Amino acid sequence: MAEAENTAPTTGGESSRRDFLIYGTSALAAVGTALAVWPFISSMNPAADTLALASTEVDISAVEDGQAITVVWRGKPVFIRHRTEENIEAARSVDVAELRDPQTDEDRVKEAPWLIMIGVCTHLGCIPLGQKDGDPKGDFGGWFCPCHGSHYDTSGRIRKGPAPLNLPIPPYAFLDDTTVKIG
Ligand code: FES
Repeated sequence: MAEAENTAPTTGGESSRRDFLIYGTSALAAVGTALAVWPFISSMNPAADTLALASTEVDISAVEDGQAITVVWRGKPVFIRHRTEENIEAARSVDVAELRDPQTDEDRVKEAPWLIMIGVCTHLGCIPLGQKDGDPKGDFGGWFCPCHGSHYDTSGRIRKGPAPLNLPIPPYAFLDDTTVKIG
């Protein structure tokens, strides 16, 4: 069981290698860069049998309403957003039948304020923007993938642009109110 590799909030905090990883993954959404960098990250991954067992425990106690953090699990960025009431309401007021990849918000979360998903665009694998305060969040207040213009809503569902599917939800469980185990 591996400890979280980086769990600092995306706003504030001192500069460190952890911050580099967090801000770095968000910044990777620049066209072309993400695709070029992922093989490098993949090459650092442990062997497949280790990966199969890998899980990450994340302390989310410092993530305030409206904030998001990015952690790395199995070599992939996992977005954890502490959603506001507005975010949740927006996600739940959608007519699911009109969605490209129909899923209710309730199907995608275990605890309404906490949206946890793999932050890799389902089009061609760029990392969407939206984790940091100043990031563009797209037309639906969630995430925006600048590579080819996919917009995801506050439930991480694809709403506009070429991506075919919602951002995937990894296996996870809350160990207590402030600790989530991914994997
Ligand atoms: S990779 Fe995200 S829109 Fe193409």
